[in-house]
Amino acid sequence: MKIVKEFENLESRSIGFVPTMGALHDGHRELLKRGRAENELLVLSIFVNPTQFLEGEDFSKYPRTLEEDIKIAKEIGVDILFLPDVETLYSGDEVSILAPKIRGFILEGKGRVGHFNGVLQVVLKLFNIVKPHKAYFGKKDAQQLILIESMVKNLFLDIEIVPVDIVRDFDGVALSSRNRYLSKEERKLAIKIPKALTTGETLLKSGNSLQSTKRAMLSALEDLEIGYVEIRDRNLNLLQKFEKENTIILIAVKVGKTRLIDNIWL
Ligand code: PAF
Repeated sequence: MKIVKEFENLESRSIGFVPTMGALHDGHRELLKRGRAENELLVLSIFVNPTQFLEGEDFSKYPRTLEEDIKIAKEIGVDILFLPDVETLYSGDEVSILAPKIRGFILEGKGRVGHFNGVLQVVLKLFNIVKPHKAYFGKKDAQQLILIESMVKNLFLDIEIVPVDIVRDFDGVALSSRNRYLSKEERKLAIKIPKALTTGETLLKSGNSLQSTKRAMLSALEDLEIGYVEIRDRNLNLLQKFEKENTIILIAVKVGKTRLIDNIWL
């Protein structure tokens, strides 16, 4: 495996790319395994992107576990590990990119105004540097995935975005780099999140209305500080009723000081 800070043009008919902020877990492993299986060359980037963190968020204390990450990358057979510096990616007074006015500023984008501008900005830069044929993103960050798919479509980028299923722990909690912030007690409370999603799934599939489903989910999440529980279509538009193969239930909650998101695609 080559570890590089500057990226050289690659000669390959099939480049798979997994952009990350590091602190790799089994969810990332799934993206990497898929990328490994489907491409001649596999590139992983690790870059904790400052522009997607708002003032007061956890940028400086975001987990950085490079040694462990390198081990995982080698184990899976990554060809190139790209570790850009902030100075390589950002020059100061820049042309910037704006997330869609509506879908970029609801859900995660409502509480974290400008977050998706930063995500799309860095992903576009990384796409232009790595020039992948396929790029892999987890469904756990559903809004991020959907907005990246929109960016690729709207800017006519020649890249296939591959959505990868959420990986869950033994008790159903979705894997996330931020889970390591949770105390034992908080980790137990977090189980309410996948349980609420399963409740939502059962109720919708058995014909309950969106409103009553949402009410039941809110009570399944009692004791947690709820950011949102929303039922939307796969383009993040509001739904009038459950649509099979076109519905996502999205949850954001705070467990202690840690904000967790999760979702289920139905
Ligand atoms: O999902 C992440 O880890 C980040 O938002 C991404 C896509 C690597 C952009 O910094």
